[in-house]
Formats: sequence, structure tokens, C-alpha cells
Amino acid sequence: MNKFPNMDSLQINNQTFQIFIPEPEILARIAQLAHILQTDYQNTRPLFLAVLNGSFMFASDLLKCLHIECEIQFVKLSSYQGMQSTGKVSELIGLNQSIANRDIIILEDIIDSGLTMHELLQSVQKLQPKSIEVCALLLKPEALKVPLQIKYVGFEVGNEFLLGYGLDYDGLGRNLRHIFKL
Ligand code: IMP
Ligand code: MG
Repeated sequence: MNKFPNMDSLQINNQTFQIFIPEPEILARIAQLAHILQTDYQNTRPLFLAVLNGSFMFASDLLKCLHIECEIQFVKLSSYQGMQSTGKVSELIGLNQSIANRDIIILEDIIDSGLTMHELLQSVQKLQPKSIEVCALLLKPEALKVPLQIKYVGFEVGNEFLLGYGLDYDGLGRNLRHIFKL
């Protein structure tokens, strides 16, 4: 890992990453998102479902900017081989309360192919919330493989690999305060 966090580039596992979205820009955009959410969810006490691991920084900074009543739960989509021959099964884990009749906002770090979000939406839908919307810090529109309605997006980006501010490369870099690009 780079010993000089203020530099414009860093190396992780022999890959060089350049700074792409600096922290002040990330935080300014998050404040705008929070402002919009605050208007849309006044008096509804929304429940945020923050998808681990990538969304932890985004969720933290976004919720600090929100001045409405709200709740948050951290969830994960765990993939495992099913007992049946059908192969991959995903299970929503971490949700320990009923979400029936609640207004749900899923917080995700980045949407790439959209397959993860597609599965997550199906799992959440089954629990019969009143409404579901997605708030993603980053979206790669050209990479989408399934149609998705993402109402709240921080930044639309190209098909590049990003790192930092929650996003990892081989488990590293989640702690970086800026978003870097390969
Ligand atoms: P999807 O199912 O292809 O949309 O992938 C979503 C997940 O892949 C995200 O939640 C991230 O964990 C990971 N991911 C996608 N693109 C990137 C990237 O550029 N950097 C780091 N992780 C990524
Ligand atoms: Mg993720």
C-alpha cells in the first residue's frame, strides 16, 4: 500500500491506480443526494439496507447528512451452491426485522453488470415492503446486463475498474478516502 495517501497515484499488488474522484467531490455529491432523499422521504421513516462490504463508507457519510427519521440495516447477499442441482442460490443475510410496509432504500457502492442488484431486489421484493428504491454511489451504465431502475445515482462512470472509498481490489483499498481508477 502507498505510504503517501496525498499522492495522486498509488500501487496495490503491482497495479497503479490514479485518483479519479477526490474526497471533497464525493462528499459534495453525497450531500446533494441526501438533500433529495430528505425531500422524498419526509415523515416516512425509511429503512436503508446498506449492502456490505462496499457500501460502508457511503452509508456512513450519507446518513450523517440526512436530517430525517430513518433506520439502517447492513445486509449481504451470500452466494452458495444449493442442495439441488440448479447451482447458485443467493440468500439475503443480516436482515433481522420485518420490512413489510416499509419504505426501503438499498445503498450500494457500485452497480456494474447489475446482476447483484437484480437478485437483491428480487429477495427484498418477496418481503413485501411498501416501496423499494436503489441509491448507488456509482453506476456503470454501459456494463449493465439486466434492465434496472436506479432512482438515485451519485456518479455515472465508464467501464473502468475503480478502487477506494469502500471499493476493493483483492480485498485491499477499501479504506482509501478518494476513488481511484486503474
Ligand atoms: P455487479 O453484480 O456486476 O453489478 O457487481 C456489483 C459488485 O461488484 C459491486 O457491489 C462491487 O462489490 C463489485 N464491483 C463492480 N465494479 C467494481 C469496481 O470497479 N471496483 C470494485 N468493485 C467493483
Ligand atoms: Mg458491493
